[in-house]
Amino acid sequence: MLITTMSAVGGVGKTSLTLALAEEASRRGISTCVVDMDFSPGTMHALFDLDRYRSITDAAGNPEKAVEYVQVPAGKTYGVLSGGLPHAADVMTKPITETMLQTLLQNFQLVIVDTSSQPTEGSLTAVQKSNTTLFVITPERYTGIRGAILLDYIKSYGIVNSNRFEVVINNCRPGKKQKYVDIMKAPVSVVVPYLKNHSPDKRTMLPYVSGVVDAWFPNTMKPGSWSFGKSGFLSRLKFWA
Ligand SMILES: Nc1ncnc2c1ncn2[C@@H]1O[C@H](COP(=O)(O)OP(=O)(O)OP(=O)(O)O)[C@@H](O)[C@H]1O
Ligand SMILES: [Mg+2]
Repeated sequence: MLITTMSAVGGVGKTSLTLALAEEASRRGISTCVVDMDFSPGTMHALFDLDRYRSITDAAGNPEKAVEYVQVPAGKTYGVLSGGLPHAADVMTKPITETMLQTLLQNFQLVIVDTSSQPTEGSLTAVQKSNTTLFVITPERYTGIRGAILLDYIKSYGIVNSNRFEVVINNCRPGKKQKYVDIMKAPVSVVVPYLKNHSPDKRTMLPYVSGVVDAWFPNTMKPGSWSFGKSGFLSRLKFWA
């Protein structure tokens, strides 16, 4: 299964969502790889202290062997193909991205592509190939409006003609609504509240993504007992009332 996280605005929580999904899925025994297609260098290297000389830039030169460049961060149960240098955005053409993703999907049950808010040929190819693209917005008005414009662009230019988009609303504070979610014309599948002391590599977001992992991989064992109540219908109501 291939999933892409996307947004039209930076800093809304794509990487947090990607890593929470990877953690949740891999802890259920689903072999998982995160692909960092954000080419402002160093996100994954900085978060996980990875070898900076093994990245997507190297995988682009040898996409059939992309799996050799995947690293497992200390203490984690999923792999990471870290983002490369800025020129990797140009190097990740459609055919190279397709081959790379195909190779990874032969080796992992779940591949999650984390993108930047600036679409590239590579990230749009990932969207095209994905079973689902999770589009992240926050209650801030402009994240929804810009999200809708980017989604319209993707659909109207024939990049993706399907409805394989779902919306994630992050950083919700009680009582604050995202009034512009309807214009995205895609269902809301995850709602995450503002989380105290959060950082993308922490487990704070896990309870809220458990429901989508259930939907993608029914009958997998939940690693903890947190999923009921926190990721369920009641909690969504609580934060999205
Ligand atoms: N639900 C949340 N509650 C509190 N802080 C959050 C939440 N989600 C994300 N953050 C914080 O917001 C910042 C940006 O998050 P993150 O890196 O996941 O976003 P991003 O969309 O990947 O950003 P970029 O566009 O720069 O790649 C981080 O400091 C993160 O810890
Ligand atoms: Mg990010």
